[in-house]
Amino acid sequence: MSLIDKINLEKCPQHIAIIMDGNGRWAKQQGEVRLFGHSSGVEAVRDVLKACVDLGVKHLTLYAFSTENWNRPKEEVDGLMNLMVETIANEVSELNENDVRLRSIGDESKLPDACKNELHRAQVATSENKSIDLILALNYSARWEIINAVRNIAKRVEEGDIVANEVNESKFEQELAMPEIPDPELLIRTSGEYRLSNFLLWQIAYAELYFTEKLWPDFTREDLFRAVLDYQNRERRFGKVSEQLTE
Ligand code: IPE
Ligand code: IPE
Ligand code: MG
Repeated sequence: MSLIDKINLEKCPQHIAIIMDGNGRWAKQQGEVRLFGHSSGVEAVRDVLKACVDLGVKHLTLYAFSTENWNRPKEEVDGLMNLMVETIANEVSELNENDVRLRSIGDESKLPDACKNELHRAQVATSENKSIDLILALNYSARWEIINAVRNIAKRVEEGDIVANEVNESKFEQELAMPEIPDPELLIRTSGEYRLSNFLLWQIAYAELYFTEKLWPDFTREDLFRAVLDYQNRERRFGKVSEQLTE
């Protein structure tokens, strides 16, 4: 029996977010350069995306490059950007076959032109697809996103569009990168690191967190199912007490 048979498809998260970590350590274990780890990680992305389609997950957000990752050696940053361009270009037809819509969050303005262009091309080419959104967090950080939202809200107040007292959660959320997409119910981080590294800090206020020792290139569809099963065994109380949930 595959793990997918144990999953209650009615109670799957609608939005899963993943911090894909451990490519560098994986490469080192193989005696290879870090970039080999990144390119091997693409295979895991493919498997996990298909697994999400099979589960009926509607949104998958992947942390692909953080604003802090610019601090890595130039060779690695350049290699990652090239890999992004190549991968996006190569995957468009498969994304279309699987009815996947590609989207992105992050500060695009600092990405190399080739990357920006390929991303736009792929977003347009997949814009009609409906099964699942694949959201790439590229040059993303939660603090960047939040500051951006604060700036936009301040501008609206300045222009007299709203008054400061009217600022509430829903108005604030409207200024975030994906206002129409529900918050992730499940956040996964691979590679045995127990931190959030500036990822979706606002949206994960009530997400279930799942950490695994597996390095990202080793993460399989069965691992994704394990994470979802774990999620389904949790009690999400949202501040209430257990007894209230069965009332
Ligand atoms: C995650 O793997 C991919 C990116 C951050 C782009 P790492 O490159 O962080 O791998 P480790 O953590 O060094 O093993
Ligand atoms: C987080 O991983 C960013 C991505 C997965 C893209 P890092 O490897 O950059 O995170 P830290 O530096 O270990 O926190
Ligand atoms: Mg890392």
